[in-house]
Amino acid sequence: MTPAAGARSEVLVRAPAKVNLELRVGPLRRDGFHQLATVYQAVSLYDTVCASPADDWDLDLAGRTTSGVPLDTTNLALRAAAALARAAGLGERAALHITKEIPVSGGMAGGSTDAAAALVACNRLWGLDWSLDELEPIAARLGSDIPFLLRGGTALGSGRGEQVVPVLAKGIYHWVFALAEEGLSTPEVYAECERLREAAAAEVDQPAPTADLLGALRAGDVRAVGRLLANDLQPAALSLQPGLAAILDEGLAQGALGGIVSGSGPTIAFLAAGREAALDLSVALIASGAVRDVRRAVGPVPGAQLDPTA
Ligand code: C5P
Repeated sequence: MTPAAGARSEVLVRAPAKVNLELRVGPLRRDGFHQLATVYQAVSLYDTVCASPADDWDLDLAGRTTSGVPLDTTNLALRAAAALARAAGLGERAALHITKEIPVSGGMAGGSTDAAAALVACNRLWGLDWSLDELEPIAARLGSDIPFLLRGGTALGSGRGEQVVPVLAKGIYHWVFALAEEGLSTPEVYAECERLREAAAAEVDQPAPTADLLGALRAGDVRAVGRLLANDLQPAALSLQPGLAAILDEGLAQGALGGIVSGSGPTIAFLAAGREAALDLSVALIASGAVRDVRRAVGPVPGAQLDPTA
């Protein structure tokens, strides 16, 4: 097949990072993934992907956080573009230029974000005009978080995280993300979670979201959401990077409504009472010396969006 009439010469897509307000990790499944119940929120920290026509696959990176991102065909954004071309029966290739703001290996889904953005960008570049429902199965095969990042907002994730339904969430959530010096590998954090559970001979139930958290989101009760932040991967992330505990303590002592390891970490997400409080918290965290760098963001925001500057 050749590209459709609506094909473009260059397409820019912006896609957000995510934080898990709640991440309940159930039993290990036969496919090597864990059964999850999670509440995702997309936040205003963005990577952008610019896709343009090319004779062969090509990838380059810009931005302040690029170290550790693969530039070869293992890159998730390139794999997403190739998977879309295959699914559509196209012989097309593309050059992807990714500008990264989202911390790499930080537990904020940066790689998955780029894959979601690449799907939306190449969908337009090749004039496919597939709906999000049509892109979703490709996204789900590539990574557990990618379907959520296509849609954004606040959503409940189940299965291995790839089955998403929107959650009613009122209000604006002001986040301060404390960046770590070194990333954590998601499979290693899940493996550590397994190891800790085995060592404790812990019974692992089927995961479910907390009704109180969903109620607090519906009511826009930011304080209650702060209290109810929960992450079953946190003990594993703290076991692999014990220094994170001091950062959590510092943020809570400085007035955060709640603090949590973001996803598989090591970024720590603090929820603040408002814009001013987030600013004060950022300054206090840096001044304390406990944190090298912070990013402020708000949520919820939409998922991968075409032409953010248009
Ligand atoms: O799906 P994704 O590529 O993000 O997963 C990365 C790794 O994280 C998986 O290979 C697996 O080790 C772990 N994982 C898991 N259970 C999930 C999601 C991820 O064990 N639900």
